[in-house]
Amino acid sequence: MTETSKLNRRFFMKGAGATAMLGSAVGGGLVIPATASAKGMGSMNMSMSYDLNEEFNRIGSGDSKWDGIRNRARPFDVPFPMGVADMDFRTLPHITEALMKRMGHQNWGYQPIPPYYYENIIAWNKKRYNQTVKPGSILNAHGVLDGVLAILKTHNTEGNKVLIFTPGYSGFFGVIRNAQFETLECPMPIVDGRYEMDLDLMARQIDEEDVKVMLFCNPQNPTGNCWTVEEMRKMGDVCLEKGVLVVADEIHCDFVNKHAKYTPYATIGEKYAMTSYTLKSTSKSFNLAAQHVAYMFSDNQEYIDTLQKNGHQRRSLNALGMIACNAAYLHGAQYMDDMQSYIDGNCHFLENFLAENIPDIKYKVHEGTYLAFIDCTAIAAKLGGPKDDQTVGKLVQDFFIQKAGVNINPGESYGKNAVGLMRMNLATTHKKLHGALNAMKKAVDAI
Ligand SMILES: Cc1ncc(COP(=O)(O)O)c(C=O)c1O
Repeated sequence: MTETSKLNRRFFMKGAGATAMLGSAVGGGLVIPATASAKGMGSMNMSMSYDLNEEFNRIGSGDSKWDGIRNRARPFDVPFPMGVADMDFRTLPHITEALMKRMGHQNWGYQPIPPYYYENIIAWNKKRYNQTVKPGSILNAHGVLDGVLAILKTHNTEGNKVLIFTPGYSGFFGVIRNAQFETLECPMPIVDGRYEMDLDLMARQIDEEDVKVMLFCNPQNPTGNCWTVEEMRKMGDVCLEKGVLVVADEIHCDFVNKHAKYTPYATIGEKYAMTSYTLKSTSKSFNLAAQHVAYMFSDNQEYIDTLQKNGHQRRSLNALGMIACNAAYLHGAQYMDDMQSYIDGNCHFLENFLAENIPDIKYKVHEGTYLAFIDCTAIAAKLGGPKDDQTVGKLVQDFFIQKAGVNINPGESYGKNAVGLMRMNLATTHKKLHGALNAMKKAVDAI
């Protein structure tokens, strides 16, 4: 019996209700879940192989999301931290198994990256997205943002402003600043309830500011948009015409709701692939952010060669991160399918709950990522608006922390045009989401 099939027998005993104890990790004993129908998801029809309803205790690990906000919010307790973009679920058991096996070998000398590591990255992208990643074109990074930093330093040599659509991921502002450049916001208008690209504005901004690089996010954090082929081609055509490099951060690609579709930017046509980079990782999909492992690639080998010549890449990785990423792509397809269904269920639950119980908060099920961008403008107004130098986002954030024990992120973190919107992380159990929403309802009712 192969190692994989042994693992399969241990971890995929559908319907057996069995658990296996593997040892202990942060949060207590490590119980490998067998199977679960998605309890508490009402009439939603889900067939799950992993028990994503398990209430996994993250407190005490020193993490940013749970321990971080608990420290900052004192004396208030925050039983529902829904800010930082990571997940509350136990990770794929195969990852833990592979890491523990390696930990058992108590020597940490130099270790090259085996060819199968790259093969599994290529296979995952091919199988799930029909994206062809050329062998030899993959570079490693300590994180997606570290990869972005390397690309910016290599390509934005004249120090021009870097364009992003806003609302846009807060980390983009930080990484552009770290690279010693300025962010140029291209605000997206809301059309029929969805944020849309304003390509006329973008073209004007590129001309006026002589932009050479844009950071693009697909699926987009925080709006949740999965950009269509047509949208991306139109955007890509502007970039091609004006000689702008597209840096496509697709870290959220594995989270796509049922009604939506993720198309990798580099698959929409050769000319787009040849003028772009793509960055991905298992850090969102399998909650491996603290393992610090990511990768980037481009069909344009000159880009890859230039990055390397600029000294940004040693072909090495942290052994544990590499092992975790490999196990994820090798064994994680079912886990990821289950996760997508579960997040989709949470999105629908949120939409229905808000419409029925907190109509002052507006939300429609989004397309990709596990992040909901909810409109709390009316809540801010009910609270009397911000005082002194307080922002609307801080007002709403503090209100929900103090009155409901729920932490959500202020829209202002994502650009100038997101005042009143709040980002809520749905990568948690249905029970916690329900608890958070009940607490928010109680708080709003008492205003
Ligand atoms: C769009 C996007 N890119 C990058 C990152 C950070 O990635 P990493 O931790 O691999 O640098 C995040 C994290 O939330 C993100 O949402």
